[in-house]
Amino acid sequence: MNKKKLVFSGVQPTGNLHLGNYLGALKNFVKLQDEAECIYCVVDLHAITVFQDPSDLKNNILETTAGFLATGLDYKKSIIFNQSSVSGHAELGWILNCVSKVGWLNRMTQFKDKVGKDKEKASVGLYIYPNLMAADILLYKSTHVPVGADQKQHLELCRDIAQKFNADFKKNLFPIPEPLIQKEMSRVMSLRDGMAKMSKSDESNYSRIDLKDSADEIIKKVKKAKSDSSSIPDNLKVLSEKPEALNLINIYTSLSDRSFDQTINEFKGKDYSHLKNKLSELLVEVICPVGKEIKKLLEDKSFLEKILREGTEKAKVIAERNLKEIKNVVGFF
Ligand code: TYM
Repeated sequence: MNKKKLVFSGVQPTGNLHLGNYLGALKNFVKLQDEAECIYCVVDLHAITVFQDPSDLKNNILETTAGFLATGLDYKKSIIFNQSSVSGHAELGWILNCVSKVGWLNRMTQFKDKVGKDKEKASVGLYIYPNLMAADILLYKSTHVPVGADQKQHLELCRDIAQKFNADFKKNLFPIPEPLIQKEMSRVMSLRDGMAKMSKSDESNYSRIDLKDSADEIIKKVKKAKSDSSSIPDNLKVLSEKPEALNLINIYTSLSDRSFDQTINEFKGKDYSHLKNKLSELLVEVICPVGKEIKKLLEDKSFLEKILREGTEKAKVIAERNLKEIKNVVGFF
């Protein structure tokens, strides 16, 4: 088995990238590209598990690609491509549908949270989505997967599927992939509700910072963010009881590349308005250039399409080689 570190991750092209995507995933993607072979995928097959307007989808695929580049991914170092261009994802997805178990999928909390009481109306694709995610990872025999904490359960399922496949076919074909979840900022929470994660699907724009937000929008959103009326405490125990306040401290810590203790030492005893001013300044400094770069890149769509085409060619070489081996192990000609 290939023991080299191979990193794979994916982002859905379903709307604006936000601060949660950046701090929970993209920032880590960029760090890893200097340490390992990295494959980053715009997962458009995942996006259509919920209906997408076709022209919006095309734009969102390019916008997510622009987001990858604007946050610092280098298409010469990492393979950047869109999932539907490499048919091996869907092919291995089917094989893994036949390895994975209904009981395992029934435990997936994200599916339950997404469909709520409307389970009967959800697409079958949404239900088997975690099997396709396992196929994305295993198609490249990936060893490491950088994600936010919300994807942890899907990663555990992927590990179970890889182990079962290896056991069923008595072949050590797939490495068991390791999740890489940022300790400090694995879950960026909504600015309006410290118990809900920051998410593209939240109806309130004030719940999240989008990477394309202007300085004015960022300042307004941070000003309106829920915090606390007392002053900032000097320890995590007290802060933990105020999830919105803790979230602001965590965002500041992660964005400034400091430790939690350094942030607390800077702000303890002060009002949240002071933290909010500093946080706005930092967000404007870090996020606005990214948003500007996304907008600039989107002016040249043919360049973004070329990046995806080139990435697709490179991904296909690995995918086709591995798929041939996988099909042989399964017993196909
Ligand atoms: P997606 O598109 O929802 O999110 C992309 C990445 O951003 C992370 N993320 C967050 N991290 C911290 N706080 C938040 N509030 C937050 N919101 C999003 C996600 O954890 C993710 O890392 N199923 C995946 C896409 C996928 C994938 C894969 C990932 C498909 N195949 C294979 C890894 C490997 C998803 O829907 O991510």
